[in-house]
Amino acid sequence: MKEHKQGLITPSSPSAGGEKPVVLITGCSEGGIGHAMARAFAARDCHVVATSRSLSSMSDLKNDRRFFLQELDVLSDSSVGGAVSNVLGHFGRIDVLVNNAGVQCIGPLAEVPVSSMQQTFDTNVFGAIRMIQAVVPHMASRRKGKVANIGSVTAQAPGPWAGVYTGTKAALHSFTDTLRLELRPLGIEVINIVPGGIKSNIANSAVASYNRMPEWKLYKPYEAVIRARASMSQGMKSTPTDEFAKEAVARILQNNPPAWFTYGRYSTIFRILNHMPLFVRDFIVRKAMKL
Ligand SMILES: NC(=O)c1ccc[n+]([C@@H]2O[C@H](COP(=O)([O-])OP(=O)(O)OC[C@H]3O[C@@H](n4cnc5c(N)ncnc54)[C@H](OP(=O)(O)O)[C@@H]3O)[C@@H](O)[C@H]2O)c1
Repeated sequence: MKEHKQGLITPSSPSAGGEKPVVLITGCSEGGIGHAMARAFAARDCHVVATSRSLSSMSDLKNDRRFFLQELDVLSDSSVGGAVSNVLGHFGRIDVLVNNAGVQCIGPLAEVPVSSMQQTFDTNVFGAIRMIQAVVPHMASRRKGKVANIGSVTAQAPGPWAGVYTGTKAALHSFTDTLRLELRPLGIEVINIVPGGIKSNIANSAVASYNRMPEWKLYKPYEAVIRARASMSQGMKSTPTDEFAKEAVARILQNNPPAWFTYGRYSTIFRILNHMPLFVRDFIVRKAMKL
């Protein structure tokens, strides 16, 4: 057994990598999409580097030798650099990077503090880019690798009260489209994984961050509907996390993976909204959101 700087106890042999794909995933706290994807990759015989801000949020994976656990905060250059070098030191390679870590940000754009917006963009957009810049040189040296970014269907038809989050996902979708073209000559495939409403902890963290928002001035009458937006993805009919993870992992691992993979509750509705004339879409959204 071997102890790593930022991580946990690891499998005994550094060459344990063998020929199984080595998959690094960000944001693997129990109950979320990253955690379910970690288990789905392991079920497909991959070596899984499950990472999160705190090892305690992945403690159920601790004694399972299929997982190499690392602490990783996508906001920190040193955390990202340390974790990536630990993984390369251990396995000698990273075949798949999944940029899953993400946070919600609820509130009207005219009043959400800019610092909250920046924190959300730093996590959802620049966190993914920080990971990509850390891992791509290694993948390029092997002329082999896959990067999967986790976007959101909400970016296909942005609505009220989640404009910051939707903006980050729209930026990430755009970056992903560019990366797919720019990384191709380096031998790296890029996949945009676009979830609909999937069961996870996202509403809990959205409500927690919403509770730290200032009191709205212009939007006080909308407080209840704004707060309710934090939990919109988590209705009774949200897609089970394991089902989503299994489908997403199958697409990422297949030869010639799709450029985009959309799956989950509301994804059809958002696709239809995306293709509607704006005045029709606005009419429907205004009705639904009581605006
Ligand atoms: N669930 C949905 O309906 C849905 C729909 C569309 C897109 N998505 C996207 O799916 C991804 C996963 O979200 P989820 O629904 O599974 O929510 P979740 O359960 O809240 O998981 C989010 C994960 O991101 C981690 N994270 C947050 N900030 C981080 C940072 N600075 N560094 C590293 N990790 C960080 C969280 O860690 P902590 O536990 O430490 O907070 C957690 O592990 C996100 O990108 C989200 O935007 C989700």
